[in-house]
Amino acid sequence: MKQSILVTGGAGYIGSHTTLALLEAGHDVIVLDNLANSSQESLRRVERICGKTATFIEGDIRDRELLDSIFARHSIQAVLHFAGLKAVGESVQQPLAYYENNVSGSIVLFQAMAAANVFNLVFSSSATVYGEPKEMPISESCPTGTPTNPYGRSKLMVEEILRDLAISESRWSIALLRYFNPVGAHVSGLIGEDPNGIPNNLVPYISQVAVGKLQQLSVYGNDYPTIDGTGVRDYIHVIDLANGHLKALNVIIESTGINTWNLGTGQGYSVLQMISAFEQAANVEVPYAVVARRSGDIAECWADPKKAIQELGWKTQHNLEDMMRDTWRWQQKNPNGFGK
Ligand code: NAD
Ligand code: UFG
Repeated sequence: MKQSILVTGGAGYIGSHTTLALLEAGHDVIVLDNLANSSQESLRRVERICGKTATFIEGDIRDRELLDSIFARHSIQAVLHFAGLKAVGESVQQPLAYYENNVSGSIVLFQAMAAANVFNLVFSSSATVYGEPKEMPISESCPTGTPTNPYGRSKLMVEEILRDLAISESRWSIALLRYFNPVGAHVSGLIGEDPNGIPNNLVPYISQVAVGKLQQLSVYGNDYPTIDGTGVRDYIHVIDLANGHLKALNVIIESTGINTWNLGTGQGYSVLQMISAFEQAANVEVPYAVVARRSGDIAECWADPKKAIQELGWKTQHNLEDMMRDTWRWQQKNPNGFGK
């Protein structure tokens, strides 16, 4: 049997871009996704871009029988685990759904992996595990903090479960990838982020204002101790993020143990800088109004990406202009996303 990579949540935003990168690199890919927050159309588009097809299985990571049958039918070398729920506000309203999907679902997946003797895993974690950062930039040696919501806590819980797992069984080889703020889309404009309803995140919101779907952006606070008073984040192009997964995969396949890597650019931008960069790239005006701070937000957050650069041989290749241009192309070509 040819060796394959199992990608959970592979029809989603980051998963579809990573599936594309895996196929382009010559891997055989199996996507498991319950389509809770995605559409199979993303994978059809991936096929259009690269001329290669990922095997798609519609199903849930909580379904142990299904997982066992996937591991029995395919020779899986490694799992890239993206599947999960990710809306911070919704996680406050529906904590059990978040713990069930993100924590229980992950446990079922890890049990099925161990039963099938598959020990190579890349896990989608988040900079949210640092909580309110004590120092900037944030390196992996910064202590994890107290995430302010169930979503963030679910990511930290899974990280801790994986650390225990790596201690209990030396064959595990695990990458915890802490993403900063993924934005952008594939340069073709065929795949990109397709949020449900009104977007919570800054860049999808800006692009929906720019395309005329939303009236104006609310800037959540301009009284933070930052360059211009608005929140600062480390935005990373989704293609750079996808490539980080390939690099991490190469490293874990050749080693054992557990490792944490930040995937960020090392550069922070404020909300006002993001608006202005978008306006320049898209040549449209983005009306905005400053409103009160959003509860749970921190002032600033950007990565020290040195560890990933040194240990993974990874480097970001897209700048802010690329992020905005590619977001805008995707938004213009697909005003209604994948139409899911
Ligand atoms: P996404 O919602 O686009 O993708 C997640 C995919 O998982 C979706 O296709 C969804 O249908 C699927 N899914 C959800 N629950 C499932 C289940 N129980 N079984 C099978 N499939 C399931 O989100 P994304 O932005 O691509 O995020 C991917 C991962 O990265 C998530 O784990 C997320 O928490 C993490 N992450 C995302 C960000 C971000 O800002 N986008 C930041 C840090 C970490
Ligand atoms: N912002 C606005 N208006 C908006 C949306 C956001 O001003 O309509 C501001 C926020 O206040 C913040 C910045 O834009 O200063 C970025 O906000 P996002 O919601 O895009 O991103 P966050 O950094 O708040 O959250 C992201 C992910 C979370 C993850 C967190 C920490 O969406 O899943 O990073 O890693 F938990």
